[in-house]
Amino acid sequence: MFKGVLFDLDGVITDTAEYHFLAWQALANELGITIDRKFNERLKGVSREDSLRLILAEGKQEDRYSPTEFAALAKKKNDHYKEMIQSVTPADIYPGIQSLLTALKENQIGIALASASKNGPFLLEHLGIMALFDTIVDPASLKAGKPAPDIYEAAASQLSLAPSECIGIEDALAGIQAIQASGALPIGIGKEVDLGTDIALVPDTSQLTYDFLCDTWQNQIH
Ligand code: BG6
Ligand code: MG
Repeated sequence: MFKGVLFDLDGVITDTAEYHFLAWQALANELGITIDRKFNERLKGVSREDSLRLILAEGKQEDRYSPTEFAALAKKKNDHYKEMIQSVTPADIYPGIQSLLTALKENQIGIALASASKNGPFLLEHLGIMALFDTIVDPASLKAGKPAPDIYEAAASQLSLAPSECIGIEDALAGIQAIQASGALPIGIGKEVDLGTDIALVPDTSQLTYDFLCDTWQNQIH
């Protein structure tokens, strides 16, 4: 049986993946770069700085900005994003997530946050679920972001577990790749076309029940 569940946040626990997209799109528009939802799939799970690099490359502007200007652009996006998340409340938790967290707690399963976002603790507080998390990985402490395994390895380690004892839950391809590289068992939220055909998938979080996690674990060869 699995002993820990490692959660991504944006697009898994609440709808902030959409806010990230809207904030990046606004910044890209200002820079004369067009990004759409298909392009946004490449930004999901990716750090703030790496996301900006991808957007500038898309607009062939990768060499246009000094390090200071680059940092100012990243801050501008984050300031806009932070304005959007000020009004987040417990009503914004995705369907099924609160009951899944409660069931995991009742069954003494460790719960970790493995989000690339530096805004993760703010969101868990405002969603009212901070107390349910045993540990939060500080993304600033990692050498490499998703799709590298570092964040899932750190999340398992902070629960005093091996990744192979854990399930990781993600809505982004970079995140699924990070889970797979760590040796944890991935569950994806989304579509095969975005996340692949080789993992357990649910179309939305309402189907992410404790029983579903147990069944998915038991169906794997361990
Ligand atoms: C990830 C999001 O969770 O966090 C990305 O999927 C985002 O879209 C990344 O860029 C970093 O977040 P933040 O809040 O630190 O800019
Ligand atoms: Mg996500």
